[in-house]
Amino acid sequence: MSGADTRHPFAALGTDSPEELFGKLSTPCYIIDERQLRRNGEILAGVASRTGCRILLAQKAFSNYDLYPVLAPFLAGTEASGLYEARLGAEEMQDREVHVFCAAYREDEFTELLQYADHIVFNSPRQLERFGPAAKSAGKSIGLRVNPECSTQDGHAIYDPCSPGSRLGTTRSQWDASMTPSLLSLLDGLHFHTLCEQDADALKTTLAAVEESFGDILPHMKWLNMGGGHHITRPGYDIQCLEDCIIYAAKKWDVQVYLEPGEACALNAGYLAAHVLDVLQNRDTAIAVLDASAACHMPDVLEMPYIPPLYGADKPGNAAYTYRLAGPTCLAGDIIGDYSFAGPLHENDLLLFGDMAIYTTCKNNTFNGMPLPAIYAIDQNKKIRLLAQFDYLNFKRRLGSLR
Ligand SMILES: Cc1ncc(COP(=O)(O)O)c(C=O)c1O
Repeated sequence: MSGADTRHPFAALGTDSPEELFGKLSTPCYIIDERQLRRNGEILAGVASRTGCRILLAQKAFSNYDLYPVLAPFLAGTEASGLYEARLGAEEMQDREVHVFCAAYREDEFTELLQYADHIVFNSPRQLERFGPAAKSAGKSIGLRVNPECSTQDGHAIYDPCSPGSRLGTTRSQWDASMTPSLLSLLDGLHFHTLCEQDADALKTTLAAVEESFGDILPHMKWLNMGGGHHITRPGYDIQCLEDCIIYAAKKWDVQVYLEPGEACALNAGYLAAHVLDVLQNRDTAIAVLDASAACHMPDVLEMPYIPPLYGADKPGNAAYTYRLAGPTCLAGDIIGDYSFAGPLHENDLLLFGDMAIYTTCKNNTFNGMPLPAIYAIDQNKKIRLLAQFDYLNFKRRLGSLR
């Protein structure tokens, strides 16, 4: 399929080693790779131009706004989870669409939210009833998130909005119990988000479930937002199947299709550089303690959980020296993963984790008083620039008064 991707997580480094590129930076630090972002953008723009769909950046995954100008030429706008992200999208990706979905909006924020968002998606008929009329009279396009009750993720309930008892999205029985003709008349679109790092076959299954539950409503809608979780820029993703789904929906119900991927926009477009602080042996386990923490700097490693790619390393046992890489915090489980290396690790060795642009800088924390890593960008000429750095006051001011 044209536009399919074959990059590995460190492809953009080319023949330069992490030491050559990042050896002078103080660690831990994130480095966002503009070239990889642009390539993701090109793939997404290809889908949009072949299908007519509009693609938004889900800022919950990636909100390093200094890099929005890199993605903006390829996207229709941003998607927000609430007031602050909506404002960020409006400020930093100007003249583009700003969509917002929140499981429940607040009275004291809603008027301000109307300044930033042009598409507002409600989670329940009650929220639609409460805030829909004000949004409508402010000229906004209004949607309702539906829940097609179709789980396509096995054993991953934390990321499955269709798991039993979910609060996310209106099921058909909730719809039947609460929707009235006047509420329906407020609606311009439907929204569903059910996937997480999935291929397009899961979208196809989900779309059939949406059609089964809401196929009678869709012909009355102007748009259908298919949410995020589409791993479009992952090597091997079935782009043709995605495009077939989009074209099917657009033709069948005469709707503008939206996608709002987060991961796919910034997949493999960032690194976390770290140094080894200490090397230990506990019986059979060799351990390297790093200046980067899974719990603080890559929280999804523990939450998903997953083991991030590491430059020059292999799976445990494949190469001669296997180490458990762990963070410096008090948390026993602050473990990034087990990896093997051709040679032994030493204090001050530089390590480079891949795929660190998504769900990292927007989700990190200062547990244990860990400093927040600085954020750099590397451009296509491998020029590095500092975007942000943090100090003691960034830690302290979240905890109390600055007397
Ligand atoms: C409503 C909604 N849209 C979009 C996304 C982005 O998902 P992803 O980053 O997996 O593409 C999420 C992620 O949780 C979401 O909840």
